[in-house]
Amino acid sequence: MRITAPLSIVLLALTSLPAISQSPAAPQAPPMGWNSWNYFAGRVNDADIRAAADELVSTGMKDAGYVYVNIDDTWEGERDVHGELHPNAKFPNMKALADYVHSKGLKIGIYSSPGPTTCGGYAGSLGHEDQDARMYAAWGIDYLKYDLCGYIGEVMEKQAPDDKAAQMRLMMAAYAKMGQALRSTGRPITYSLCQYGWDAVWEWGPSVGANLWRTTGDVTPTWDRIYAIVSQQEGLEKYAGPGHWNDPDMLEVGNGKLSLAENRTHFSMWAMLAAPLLAGNDLTAMKPEIKAILTNRDVIAIDQDRLARQGARIYSDGEVEVWTRHLSGGALAIAVVNVGSDRYAPHPFQLSLTKLGLAGPQTGKNLWTGKTVTLTDNMPLELASHDLLLVRVDKPAR
Ligand code: GLA
Repeated sequence: MRITAPLSIVLLALTSLPAISQSPAAPQAPPMGWNSWNYFAGRVNDADIRAAADELVSTGMKDAGYVYVNIDDTWEGERDVHGELHPNAKFPNMKALADYVHSKGLKIGIYSSPGPTTCGGYAGSLGHEDQDARMYAAWGIDYLKYDLCGYIGEVMEKQAPDDKAAQMRLMMAAYAKMGQALRSTGRPITYSLCQYGWDAVWEWGPSVGANLWRTTGDVTPTWDRIYAIVSQQEGLEKYAGPGHWNDPDMLEVGNGKLSLAENRTHFSMWAMLAAPLLAGNDLTAMKPEIKAILTNRDVIAIDQDRLARQGARIYSDGEVEVWTRHLSGGALAIAVVNVGSDRYAPHPFQLSLTKLGLAGPQTGKNLWTGKTVTLTDNMPLELASHDLLLVRVDKPAR
């Protein structure tokens, strides 16, 4: 579901809000880490978060760049007479948990909503934004995912029924409020907006202090959903850059029934999109082949490239798509993806280097075999269903 508003409305709304600068210490490359939702959902507890932190270290994922351990929805308990929100029984001591995560050299993230309730029906931050932000800072929180949910029905639709433009202004004001509250704490807290890509959030996200913003509804561990999300990223390239990123949602690598090819393609395309890499699998039961995907340093280097330029789909031919991403030092990443579920047309697919603006043979590294590969114009490529060829060319010939 994507609701778009004309740019004039967006700009009108923006002029009525003070611009909030982003966290000064925000990382310049997309955040990498782990989030509890995709695997644990409402079951997550303190022990799961500690175990995830332990596993990030013992699996080598931390060394590969995964530093955030993010608690998603369902940690929230009740507010006391002073309005202070207490975690529920699953999280007996949040400060101690944050200290534990920090002791591993990792960072910790948390979740809330601008509404009275979260998507899971737990307490949100409405009317308590500054108090909650101060509490996060006191706990040592490094990242906040702020999820619209309860704010839609309780505030936007009640205060501005049938007026989408006014609803949007309310929403932006709510995000700006928490952005300001986080900044006022003086603690660098990465600010992640989760409002499903509504109202062209990529145009105004930075102005409310956001470092990243969801561009779509929820991911699921299915090829169709993952491919739909990839397709929805077209045209958003210009909104990504150092310190601010489009967020096509968290990783499902290792979840559900995704095949190895699908896991590889999912991970590769998130890297091509300069997306946050937040693993969402059960790290305590991770198979070696899943670990190998999540820790592929060459693919991670594409994601974390310092230019932070998001890749784009250059052309498609039948069910084969060709994406490129410009990297620092003039390098180029090329992803050729067979998105078809059976045989693909045309058969065989022939790679056009000319359409990529390249001239003559291109020698690079196949990032999934580690081998040197030379791409030539119109070379036939056989790709299995949902698999891809991902090549980094350090010195493309044009
Ligand atoms: C929404 C978000 C998800 C997750 C859940 C938690 O659906 O989009 O990523 O945070 O809420 O309730």
